[in-house]
Amino acid sequence: MIAHFKEVSEFAKLEILESHKLPIAIVGAGGIVDGAHLPAYKKAGLEIVGITDVDQDRAKDVANRHGISIVYPDLATLLRDSKAKVIDIAVPPAVQRDVFIEVAKSGRHILAQKPLATTVADGEMIIKATKESGIIAGVNQQLRFEEGIAAAYKMVDLGWVGKVTSISITVNLATPWEMFPWAKNMEKLEIMVHSIHYHDVIRWFLGDPISVYSVAGRTKDQFPIGETRTVSTYKYPDEVTAIVHANHVNRGGDNYAEFRIDGDGGAIRGTLGLLYDYPTGRVDTLEVNSAKLPTDGWTPYPVTTRWFPDAFIGTMGSLLGAIAGKDKLRSSVEENLGTLKLVAALYESIATNRVIEL
Ligand SMILES: NC(=O)c1ccc[n+]([C@@H]2O[C@H](COP(=O)([O-])OP(=O)(O)OC[C@H]3O[C@@H](n4cnc5c(N)ncnc54)[C@H](O)[C@@H]3O)[C@@H](O)[C@H]2O)c1
Repeated sequence: MIAHFKEVSEFAKLEILESHKLPIAIVGAGGIVDGAHLPAYKKAGLEIVGITDVDQDRAKDVANRHGISIVYPDLATLLRDSKAKVIDIAVPPAVQRDVFIEVAKSGRHILAQKPLATTVADGEMIIKATKESGIIAGVNQQLRFEEGIAAAYKMVDLGWVGKVTSISITVNLATPWEMFPWAKNMEKLEIMVHSIHYHDVIRWFLGDPISVYSVAGRTKDQFPIGETRTVSTYKYPDEVTAIVHANHVNRGGDNYAEFRIDGDGGAIRGTLGLLYDYPTGRVDTLEVNSAKLPTDGWTPYPVTTRWFPDAFIGTMGSLLGAIAGKDKLRSSVEENLGTLKLVAALYESIATNRVIEL
C-alpha cells in the first residue's frame, strides 16, 4: 500500500525546481495575494521583485509585511521598469481582461486569477492576446493542485476505482462575503467566484459533459445581491453523472465540504478542510476503498498540505515548469475556456430553467 501511495504522492506533491524559478511581479495586493499567493511563494522559495495596486497604501502594506522591495505606482511603470519575467494578476474579475491584455503586450508570462473572465467573449479575447504575444499563461484554478484532489485524480488515473460513474461535491458554508467587497454587486456570484473551482475540477476528471441543469437561490438578509446557493447536475455518456451542491448561507453552524468519486471498482471520498473554518481551515482528508488495489475497506491517504495556501504553489509551479519547457500546463488559459463555457451554460440553465447542451 505504501508503495502505491508513493506513486500518488509523487504526482500530488507541491514543489518547484530551482531551475524553473523566475522573478515574479504581482498586480493586485488584495486579500488573496496577502493570505495565499505570498505565503505559498515564500514556502516555495520564489523571488517576488515588485508589486502594484491602484490602492497604493494597500500595496505598500502588503509589500512591507512580505518583504517586497519595490512598489510600483501603476501597471505601466511596473511593465516598463521591472525585471519580472512572470506577472501574477489578482485583481477583481471585472478588470482582469484589460490588465491581462496590457501585461501580455509586454511579453511577460502570466498567471491570471479565476474567474479568468466573466464572459466567454472576454475569455476568447484573453486567449487571442496570449497567442498574439507568444506568452504562456495559466489560470489560478488551484483546486486542481489541492493535494487531496490531485491524489484522487492520480488514483482514478491508476484505475483504483475502475471506470468513474459519478462525482459529487457538496459544501454547506457560512461564507464571509463581506471579505470580498467587489463581489457584493455581482449578479452572477456563487458559480462565478466559488463553485467554478468544483466545476473546473469535474471537467478535469471527466471532460465536458453532454448537458447540464442548474438551479440557484438567495436567502433573506444575505450580504451580496447574487445567488448564494446552487445545485448543478451533469449528464455524461454511459449514464455517468456529476453534481455540485453549494450553499454559502448555512445558518446551522455545521459547515462541511465533501467530495466523492464513485467508480465500478471502488470509491474515493474526501473533505476540503479550508472550508470548515475559512480562511484558517483545518486538515484535509482523503480515503479510498478499492476492489482493484485492493484495500480492506476505507483506507486513509495522508494529506500533508492544504488548499490555502499550499495549492497556490501548484498553479505557479505548473506555469514555471511550462515556461521551462518541462511540464504541461495543468490549467492553461486555453483549457480554461472550457470551464468558462460550462459556467455560461450553468447560468443559462438557471435563467431559463432548461437543460443546456454543451
Ligand atoms: N483562486 C482562488 O481560490 C481565489 C480566492 C479568492 C479570490 N480569488 C480571486 O482573486 C481576485 C482578487 O480577490 P481578492 O479577494 O484578493 O480581492 P480584494 O478586493 O481583496 O483585492 C483586489 C485588489 O485588486 C486591486 N485592484 C483593482 N483594480 C486594479 C487594477 N486595475 N490594477 C491593480 N490593482 C487593482 C484592488 O485595489 C484590491 O487591492 C478575484 O478575482 C477573486 O475571484 C481567487
